[in-house]
Amino acid sequence: MTNSDRNKAKKLSTEPYKGVRDFFPEDMAIQKRIFGVWRNICEKYGYEEYGASVLEPAELYRAKTGEEIVNEQTYTFTDRGSREVTLRPEMTPTVARMVTAKRRELGLPLRWYSIPNLFRYEQPQRGRVREHWQLNVDLFGIDSIEADIEIISLAHQIMKNFGAKDEDFSIKIGDRRWLDWLAVELGDFTKTEENKKKLFRLLDTKDKDPEKYMRGLKEIDTNLTPEIVSGKGIDWEAIDKKLNLKLKQIIKRLENLSITNARIDLTTVVRGFDYYTGVVFEIFDTNPENKRSLFGGGRYDDLTSLFGGDRIPAVGFGMGDVTIRNFLETHKLLPDIKNPTEIHICTLEEKFIPNAQELAVRLRAKGINVSTNLTDRKVGDQIAWADKRGIPKIICIGDEEAKTGRFRVKDLKSGDETVTAESEFVL
Ligand code: HAM
Repeated sequence: MTNSDRNKAKKLSTEPYKGVRDFFPEDMAIQKRIFGVWRNICEKYGYEEYGASVLEPAELYRAKTGEEIVNEQTYTFTDRGSREVTLRPEMTPTVARMVTAKRRELGLPLRWYSIPNLFRYEQPQRGRVREHWQLNVDLFGIDSIEADIEIISLAHQIMKNFGAKDEDFSIKIGDRRWLDWLAVELGDFTKTEENKKKLFRLLDTKDKDPEKYMRGLKEIDTNLTPEIVSGKGIDWEAIDKKLNLKLKQIIKRLENLSITNARIDLTTVVRGFDYYTGVVFEIFDTNPENKRSLFGGGRYDDLTSLFGGDRIPAVGFGMGDVTIRNFLETHKLLPDIKNPTEIHICTLEEKFIPNAQELAVRLRAKGINVSTNLTDRKVGDQIAWADKRGIPKIICIGDEEAKTGRFRVKDLKSGDETVTAESEFVL
């Protein structure tokens, strides 16, 4: 093997691992903007941030997370101490574990939020990746629809703060109890608990993957058709009364809060997880180019009993960074990305670099974000470099500036120049 062959063989790919993303500074700036809105609104509503490790014992997900996620989508491995470990595919089991562990000290109700990165071994496609960040907002300890209303209105407020109008997205609200009832009605078809769960998960794919939906129905029972599942001929009003669902009341109350885009939609909103017990909701983009589910959540009143604790009613949602970013791009709601550096100090000759560095320290002490030239490039090239990065202003340091402490500040966009003494300089 020649040296060049050896070099070629050694070269590693610069691509990230399949389905995960690198965040170059422009991407990071968008991510920061998204997280900023999330944090701001959660805290406006009185929610406190929490966190946890990405590693969890694999058994945490076996009991209640959907079968598809556990069997096909988790990253699970055995550690050096023979424990089965999973990279968290969602945050809800973790938060339920944490709340149960300290419920007495914490005191209910609890309003919590978190922005974890989650791992799912999915087929990468638009809106679906193998590592995403997900805002989780959960309210523990309130049984009534007041909690459902608060959670849905918080989700709505996040969308508003991103700049979305009510007509840009819709909030579809359903109820798991209705689906449970439907499953009983369809009992002749579903027969087993397993088939019932399968049907729910299938409903979740109804719009996303119609072919998979049709195939799945046939697998449960060859006579099961979409018409039967959609409840053709069933008196929904009567069932609503019988089950004492409060969906109409929720919609009315949301309207009183000026939320005009919430609708009851019983068979579209299913949610993939087995732990939901009541109201479930999903937010959809209304733009024909991006007509997909953006995020969702619901009520899960029994999850904490997994840990042997008392039942703690809970409701919350998960909002992913990928679907939201796609939404913001589709609707042109991303603001221009700004470089956080406010001033770049150029040097007329290399020997002025120490002067530039000393000036930078003093300007930073005034609260200004400053970078300095460290190269021997011509000043024109230094300015072009700053401009390319979107740094709005520059200062040039040469003999005179070093001696007098006065310098010229140039605005790269307008071309305006002002001369000031350092002691009087403000941005
Ligand atoms: P989920 O529907 O599985 O719910 O995920 C919530 C959101 O996370 C999705 O609607 C989507 O925005 C984003 N998401 C999920 N998987 C991916 C993926 N592979 N790639 C990109 N984005 C993704 C839950 O996880 C529930 N634990 C949410 C919850 C919190 N329910 C109550 N509290």
